[in-house]
Amino acid sequence: MKFLPDPVVATHADDDAPRVSTLLLAPMEGLLDFVLRDILTRAGGIDRCVSEFIRITDQLLPERVFTRIVPELHNGGRTLAGVPVRAQLLGSDPVCLAENAARLAALGPAGIDLNFGCPAKVVNRHGGGAALLEEPETIAAIVAAVRRAVPAHMPVSAKMRLGFHDDSKAVACAQAIAGSGADELVVHARTKLQAYRPPAFWERIADIRAAVSIPLVANGEIWTVEDARRCREASGCHMLMLGRGAVADPGLALAIRASGSAQSGLSWTQVLPLIVQFWQLVCARLDAHARPGRLKQWLNFLRRRYPEAQLAYMALRTVNHPTDIQRWLDAACPGSLIEEGLETVDRLKPLVAVAQARGAGQHLLAH
Ligand SMILES: Cc1cc2nc3c(=O)[nH]c(=O)nc-3n(C[C@H](O)[C@H](O)[C@H](O)COP(=O)(O)O)c2cc1C
Repeated sequence: MKFLPDPVVATHADDDAPRVSTLLLAPMEGLLDFVLRDILTRAGGIDRCVSEFIRITDQLLPERVFTRIVPELHNGGRTLAGVPVRAQLLGSDPVCLAENAARLAALGPAGIDLNFGCPAKVVNRHGGGAALLEEPETIAAIVAAVRRAVPAHMPVSAKMRLGFHDDSKAVACAQAIAGSGADELVVHARTKLQAYRPPAFWERIADIRAAVSIPLVANGEIWTVEDARRCREASGCHMLMLGRGAVADPGLALAIRASGSAQSGLSWTQVLPLIVQFWQLVCARLDAHARPGRLKQWLNFLRRRYPEAQLAYMALRTVNHPTDIQRWLDAACPGSLIEEGLETVDRLKPLVAVAQARGAGQHLLAH
């Protein structure tokens, strides 16, 4: 395969937006599970992850459900690359959520996150996810009950959308979350009705920032370094959460960190070894019939960013046997390239540390 030159990423050395202090990887049920979390945190630049939601209805779940969805609980609540993972709970009953949170907390996640944004009909019909944005008082009861049930040293955070039908209760919901003892709040800057359609209304996060004093994280529609800069400027947040953008571009977090220091994200030759490792993990952890779909799902995102991923996607679209996929990967990514790519990823990490250190002073000023 012929490789294109390294992608060029815009840099803004003198912008007015607050510098990035923290980059979180978004929870994404059915897409960003522990396998992809592992790979994306190996790529670097991510400070913390949130797991996909664990749905709580009317039962105390057995430990094995928590560890199946968040296997990082077996690794001290961290991905193999050492990045902390908070486990996310979704439900509408404060008592049941609190009991499950206590059991989950005993397994040692890096924190517990509460979902107030899921748009799925089945979840909303039962009063969970984004449906709670109509009821700030229930949100307050949930956060307070979970906070009480979890040891004081363990962070409890929340993630909300701007509202269900409209954003008129956004500030009330954020105040309910902050006032009930949450340590941090992520705001996905869209209502449930707006689903995942661009744009995201980052400026509404600034309104919330003015009304609550806990750390706020801005989320939604950050696909490029330039998006990250505009989001920081509009929201006033120096903490960002990356979702689909990080899946489409595993070097996005590194590039955002390094913006202003002329450093780009990852080239395709650096991403290929990550794809090979992803495939190895998928083969080790998933049933044979589910494996090709997982690889194609990721390639489908990657082709937004890398022309080579488009070629790979086209080549593998109709291939459904794991052995044939392995053969294709062996040809596309010889062993030497795997090592070379991983070394390059490792070499980028000190640069990230420098960019982080440089941002630290701004962090204090910006909040
Ligand atoms: C496939 C998919 C699954 C998601 N699952 C969750 C979830 O389990 N919990 C949650 O809080 N948000 C979930 N989200 C929302 C994302 O965390 C994020 O808020 C949203 O994608 C906007 O960010 P982005 O534009 O950077 O992708 C999901 C989004 C997608 C696309």
